[in-house]
Amino acid sequence: MCGIVAYMGSRQAAPLLLNGLRRLEYRGYDSAGMAVLNGGIDIRKDRGRIDDVNREHDFSSLKGTLGIAHTRWATHGEPSMKNAHPHTGCNGDIALVHNGIIENYKTLRELLESEGHVFSTDTDTEVLTHLIEKFYKGDFLGSVRKALMQIRGTYGIAVIHKGCNEVVVARNGSPLVIGVKRGEAFAASDASAILEHTKKMIYLDDGEVATLKPGGVVTVRNLFDKILEKNIEEIGWNLDQIEKGGFRHFMLKEIFEQPESIRNVMRGRLGKGIKLSINGELGDRKRVIIVACGSSWHSALIGRYLIESLSGVPAEVDYASEFRYREPLVGKDDLVIAISQSGETADTLAALKEAKRRGAKTLGVVNVVGSTIAREADMGVYIHAGPEIGVASTKAYTNQIIALLLIALDLAQKHGKKINQRLLSDMRKLPATLEHVLKEDKKIKAIADRVAEHGNFLYLGRGINYPTALEGALKLKEISYIHAEGYPAAEMKHGPIALIDENMPVVFIANKGKGYDKIVSNMEEVKARRGKIIAIATEGDNSIKSLSDWVIRVPRTADELSPVVNIIPLQLLAYYIADIKGLDVDKPRNLAKSVTVE
Ligand code: G6P
Repeated sequence: MCGIVAYMGSRQAAPLLLNGLRRLEYRGYDSAGMAVLNGGIDIRKDRGRIDDVNREHDFSSLKGTLGIAHTRWATHGEPSMKNAHPHTGCNGDIALVHNGIIENYKTLRELLESEGHVFSTDTDTEVLTHLIEKFYKGDFLGSVRKALMQIRGTYGIAVIHKGCNEVVVARNGSPLVIGVKRGEAFAASDASAILEHTKKMIYLDDGEVATLKPGGVVTVRNLFDKILEKNIEEIGWNLDQIEKGGFRHFMLKEIFEQPESIRNVMRGRLGKGIKLSINGELGDRKRVIIVACGSSWHSALIGRYLIESLSGVPAEVDYASEFRYREPLVGKDDLVIAISQSGETADTLAALKEAKRRGAKTLGVVNVVGSTIAREADMGVYIHAGPEIGVASTKAYTNQIIALLLIALDLAQKHGKKINQRLLSDMRKLPATLEHVLKEDKKIKAIADRVAEHGNFLYLGRGINYPTALEGALKLKEISYIHAEGYPAAEMKHGPIALIDENMPVVFIANKGKGYDKIVSNMEEVKARRGKIIAIATEGDNSIKSLSDWVIRVPRTADELSPVVNIIPLQLLAYYIADIKGLDVDKPRNLAKSVTVE
């Protein structure tokens, strides 16, 4: 949800900021802009993708060694040149970029207008520039602090003033990280934007404001001007993890990284039993509630199945956005697990805080190290998928499932259950199994060629693979804009069957194992109505061929691991359909990777 990047140092700021923006584009991409200090403040901004705006306005023509930049995902005000960030006040002395939502902007705007301020955009952000302008009496930082105290809502901001050789950044509810290096300082809404310059990061917490000054001097304070001691943390990610590495898209690269990312989530945690570095309190909870959004919610559904079936502990799943507002009956006997790739999703974070407030123990299952949810939760299990740049989640999703499986097994151990060694052995083999599935790539592309013109798809699965149907459908609609629905296969006859004809491809997750015969009956029902069937089936299952128009084969594995194995062909199918349609797979329209607004 919007990306911000800032630089203060001795090099030209514009090329550094432009590179940073490109790395943040997954956060939002309807407008882009940059401001550089150069005696006054020079600003270039417009509606459009970063490279298009750059082509039109040539960011590199901005000369100066201090600047801020922004890539936008519109909330208030349509994407347009005037609404693109950076924003200025009345006199152009200030330029500011913002990520988040200012909830009381209407009242503030009315007040400021009554005092003579003239607004030139439709954004909520602009109130901040006018507030800073109003409070500025020679003390820039002080005026920013005062302005922020008037704000209700969320923000990550970077702001500059034409008379001050410094960048001021602040955070409340929207991520902000500062990169430190000798003689230079960087700030961004995500470490990946500045990782090529430094791995040393300071993570701002809510209510903190920092100045980036010449010589790379960084000072962090709270809003009341008290200087705070902050740790400098070294980030473990590498540059090649955030580059495409020869793949056409990040999404394709990330699909193919899954054997390796699965190795990483299991590394050091899988021995004869399970070793997780979370404390013993896990075992004392009587119930588990999992909250999440999007694909993470789908992995949560699988997590519920795994936790209940392996550990015998009752588990529930809720959309984080619903949980936080429904007066949930949650308390000290509960373990609330918040799943989030980014660790920044506003609804998931709010649900976690609500659970904590009600006395539950909280556990974060998070990918981005140092993210807000990771820091806010009482305990955490990192999924170690590495940076995921494609907006549609792939490797983070499968790593979440394995992290939840590890948690389920850990709970099972704590409840004195015997761990199924065959499952552990299949887990060890899983990276190789996935490598094998990825070899079906060309075949899946050929199927995509045949079905890409259809306007509707149905995905059906049962049990632990019902969420796989949901996730397969979500992948397709996110990136190909084809309407797709996932259903538990048995529910088909209660509605979706009315839609089935020769124009409706139906994707069945039909592995041998629990529920197989029932799935086959559902396939018969679709076939009888001339629906086109794509089946994900177990290698060696020849009987399924007569029912299917296309079969994608996957190796047999433990039922608990089948959602990880089955989703890979569905990720590839969605990817190739979108690519055939000429769509921007990594940056689908209207979406953003990290949803830091409600
Ligand atoms: C957005 C992304 C999805 C993601 C969801 C939850 O909608 O486009 O891919 O699943 O947010 O994100 P999180 O970072 O909390 O897992």
